[in-house]
Amino acid sequence: MADIILGIESSCDDTSAAVIRDGYLLSNVIASQEVHRSFGGVVPELASRAHELNIVPVVSEALRRAGLAPSDLSAIAFTRGPGLLGSLLVGTSFAKALSLSLNIPMVMVNHLQGHVLADFVKEEGKENRHPAFPYLCLLVSGGNSQIVRVDSPLEFTILGRTIDDAVGEAFDKCSKMLGLGYPGGPIIDRLAKNGDPERFAFTKPRVPGLDYSFSGVKTSLLYFVRDEMAKDPMFLENNKEDICASFQKTLIDILMGKLVRAAKETGIREVTMGGGVSANSALRARLADEGRRRRWNVYIPEFKFTTDNAAMIAIAGYYRYLAGERTSLDVAPVSRESDFE
Ligand code: KG4
Repeated sequence: MADIILGIESSCDDTSAAVIRDGYLLSNVIASQEVHRSFGGVVPELASRAHELNIVPVVSEALRRAGLAPSDLSAIAFTRGPGLLGSLLVGTSFAKALSLSLNIPMVMVNHLQGHVLADFVKEEGKENRHPAFPYLCLLVSGGNSQIVRVDSPLEFTILGRTIDDAVGEAFDKCSKMLGLGYPGGPIIDRLAKNGDPERFAFTKPRVPGLDYSFSGVKTSLLYFVRDEMAKDPMFLENNKEDICASFQKTLIDILMGKLVRAAKETGIREVTMGGGVSANSALRARLADEGRRRRWNVYIPEFKFTTDNAAMIAIAGYYRYLAGERTSLDVAPVSRESDFE
C-alpha cells in the first residue's frame, strides 16, 4: 500500500500544504501573506490570523490537486518549529485535529531539517537528483545561517551557525537601510545584476571555526553610506547597483569561505543548499562555480523549494514515518531550534 503524507507548514508567513505519495510530490500549495509588506517585515500577530484564515482552504486545495480524499492519507507531517509561536500553533493544532478525526498518526518535523532535505522531494517526469550521504547543506534563510552535515534523512549535525544575524536578515535590514523595500533579498539580487561587485569593500567578520556573523558587515554598510551621503547627498541614488552588488558579494564570500572550510575539514564533496537566500542568483552561480573548481557534486534546489513550503515538510516527515516515528497529541510547538528535542 502506498504511503501518502500530508505536509503542513506554518512557521512564518506562508501557509502551505503538500501531498506526497511514496516520496513523489502530488501537490504543493502555498498561500503567501501580502499583509506584511507595508510593515517592512513579518508582524507575528497578523501572520497567525492569516494562517487561521488560510489553513482549511490551503489543505483542501492540496488534496484536490492531488486527486485524493482525506481518508486516503496515511499520516500528517507538520512543522513543530522553529518559527513564530502563534503561526506554528495554527499548523500544529490543525494537524492534531485532522489526526484525531481521521484516526491517522502525525509526525513532527524540524522546519530547518525540511529545508535541508528539500532535494529529496521527487517529481514525476523529472531527473530527481539528490545528494548522497553524507552531504553538507548550506542552510541560509531569514532566520538561520548554518552549515549542516547530513548523514541520513534522520541524522543532522550543525557544524556552524550564525552567532548573531542570519544572512537573510542582513539582506533585509540593509535593503531597508538603503530605502529599497521588503523583502530585501530579491530586490538586492535584482539591482546587483547591473552593478560592480568589486567597487566597494565591506568589513568581513573574523569568527572562529565554522560559525558565521553578519552583524558587522551590516554596520559597515551603514557607516559607509552615512559617510558618503555626508559628502554627496546623491551618492546612494547614483551608486545603488554597485552598492548592492558589492554588499551581496561580501555576504556570499563570507558564506562560501566557511563552506569551503567545512568541505575540507570533513572531506565531504556532496554539497547542497536550502532556505530562502538560496534563491539568490549570484549565490547559486557561485556555488555551481565553486563546485566545478573543487570537484564537488553540487545540488541547487529548484526555486519553488527554496522558500518555505510544505513539500519539504512532507518529505522530511515521510522518512520519519517510515522509520516508525509518531508524535503524540500533547506536543506543543517550539519557537527555537534548541528547544526542539
Ligand atoms: O526561508 P525563508 O523563506 O523564510 C525565513 O526564514 O523567513 O527566507 C526568507 C529570506 C528573506 O530574508 C529574503 O530576503 C531572503 O530569504 N531571500 C533572498 C532572495 N529571495 C529570498 N535573499 C537573497 N536573494 C534572493 N533572491
